[in-house]
Amino acid sequence: MQAAERASKLREALNHHNYRYYVLDDPELPDAEYDRFFGELQALEAQFPDLITSDSPTQRVGSTPLSAFEQVAHRIPMLSLNNGFIDDDIVAFDRRVREILEVDTVEYSAEPKFDGLAISLRYEGGLFVQGATRGDGSTGEDVTQNLRTVRGLPLRLRAGAPRLLEVRGEVLMFRRDFELLNQRQREMGDKEFVNPRNAAAGSLRQLNPRLTANRPLRFLGYGIGESAGEVLPGRHSGLLSRLADLGIPISSERAVVRGVDGLLGFYRKLGTRRPALPYEIDGVVYKVDDLRAQEQLGFVSRAPRFALAHKFPAEEAITEVRDIDVQVGRTGALTPTARLNPVFVGGVTVTNATLHNEDEMRRKDIHIGDTVVVRRAGDVIPEVVRALPERRPPDARRFTMPVTCPACGSAVVRLPDEAIARCSGGLICPAQRKQALLHFASRRAMDVEGLGEKIVDQLVDRDLVRAASDLYRLNVSVLAALDRMGEKSARNLIDAIEHSKQTTLERFIYALGIRNAGESTARDLARHFGSLDRLITATEEQLQQVSDVGPVVAESIRRFFAEKHNLEVIDQLRATGVHWPEHEPAVAPAAGVLAGKTFVLTGILPSMSRDNARHRIEAQGGKVSGAVSKKTDYVVAGDDAGSKLDRANALGIKVIDELQLLAMIGEIESETIREINQ
Ligand code: IVH
Repeated sequence: MQAAERASKLREALNHHNYRYYVLDDPELPDAEYDRFFGELQALEAQFPDLITSDSPTQRVGSTPLSAFEQVAHRIPMLSLNNGFIDDDIVAFDRRVREILEVDTVEYSAEPKFDGLAISLRYEGGLFVQGATRGDGSTGEDVTQNLRTVRGLPLRLRAGAPRLLEVRGEVLMFRRDFELLNQRQREMGDKEFVNPRNAAAGSLRQLNPRLTANRPLRFLGYGIGESAGEVLPGRHSGLLSRLADLGIPISSERAVVRGVDGLLGFYRKLGTRRPALPYEIDGVVYKVDDLRAQEQLGFVSRAPRFALAHKFPAEEAITEVRDIDVQVGRTGALTPTARLNPVFVGGVTVTNATLHNEDEMRRKDIHIGDTVVVRRAGDVIPEVVRALPERRPPDARRFTMPVTCPACGSAVVRLPDEAIARCSGGLICPAQRKQALLHFASRRAMDVEGLGEKIVDQLVDRDLVRAASDLYRLNVSVLAALDRMGEKSARNLIDAIEHSKQTTLERFIYALGIRNAGESTARDLARHFGSLDRLITATEEQLQQVSDVGPVVAESIRRFFAEKHNLEVIDQLRATGVHWPEHEPAVAPAAGVLAGKTFVLTGILPSMSRDNARHRIEAQGGKVSGAVSKKTDYVVAGDDAGSKLDRANALGIKVIDELQLLAMIGEIESETIREINQ
């Protein structure tokens, strides 16, 4: 029957493209084409329901919500890992391994320690039949229906799968997907997730698989459990490659290394790459590569002797909440903030941590006096993760949000569909003014060096500065009269203020502190409009033509410029001499210098994200495609470029680097490239 043949062809094609995308990270097909195949298969299956197979890509979302998860016994337990923190721990680990194996050097497989949830996937005859959480290691929960919705998780292994294979790995959410999910939550007025790990955990434990299907989960494999019907490779590294061949997504951030030097080298290298990875990791895992040697080493209680997790410096620590108060932000948002007993976490001493908002604080049930877990990740503000109620002292107190602003006494309002309570005082609120000034002067905005919190506090409290433009009317003697300000630092600050007058349009837009318009939006706006006046007069429709500007952002921009007071401050800033170069509006895409050219981006570019590179190319009329083909004009390759680069070379397509791209766009002179290359 023709329809049956077509359906099977489509399934095969869709599975193949999923494999290219999720396992090889090298899509061949534009998303729209994929969607077209998918739609065609859906239509066929609707017409001939007999053609539906359980591994069809259309059958990822089951529709029957569960009342509870079934229990699943793990025939081979899901173990935990011993942790190492400092170099000596690694030296000791390797020494012990060598002693037991009676060898001089050991080869290890080194890989990321994914910060998600441990999962076991059972494939029988190549078909995904059951998936379970780790639970207590011996018994977990059956989350098969939810796992079927995980992007890139194969419902059927590729040809040649063994009779039985349990794949072990981690379910997680990529950072970018997490941000988009939170953006969506925000726009719908729903609660935001605290971090990708929580979002992944919460999503996987939904009883209704339809909800899980809306959450962008991913799976990365790192090992196996039970297996039968195939002689598997004798090395862990080989096993991972075999899993990838079978269609299981495996991280490419892995290597086989020798001895302690190899281990530590890998750890340091991955540590520096960590912020650029698409997902969060909390360390690296070392495993003796030879599986027979693994067997010989065996286990101590619940952890293997052949493996070690080398953790990145602690980002969580335990301390007590001394007090809770609220901080008033630039836009009037009231953030409950915990004052903590100082604690060292993630490399710095933390004394304050955010509780985000009232609902979060209630949900986590944080009291004054509680012992809490504090987390600090990267550059983000430290946050209180949870309380340890078993350690709650009898005199612990709840905190209630104030009904008036602690800084100006104005009423606090909380709109029914918003999580955030705000001070309604606007610019009469000194706290909002202070935050707005600090933002205005910050490094990525007007970059007024030396204008810190202590000085801004005094300037606002003494009514010397009300709006940003007042900064440019200060003089040395006024500043020198402030506490902790000498003549010299006053002079330096005046110089810095003077210096900041010459700026760029994007910095200026960012400095204005328009709600929802961060740095990259400011950049896009500056590029698009080229002049402040064009931006000020833009309609919401015109604003939405800028990449990444949706209705919410467009509305806040328009509202900001509709405010008479804001326009006055801008006029005054210009009158005091703040200036920037302006240019014509961005050329209509089709007429850009890259019109008609197709680019493929691969690897890590030195100074910009791939998204950013894409915007720049598109702004000049170029197209960016996910896959290298004969139609590709240029491949822009950064560090660690992979198979796309190989393919470009094979097809004889011109490969350029970031500098050459910038030169094509006219953002730097081609002379500069020659200088740099010399
Ligand atoms: S191997 C017998 N490899 O870490 C060894 N685990 O503390 C079993 N994890 O719950 C684990 N990334 O989910 C292994 N590359 C990796 C991992 C990894 C994250 C998690 C795992 C487990 C926990 C162990």
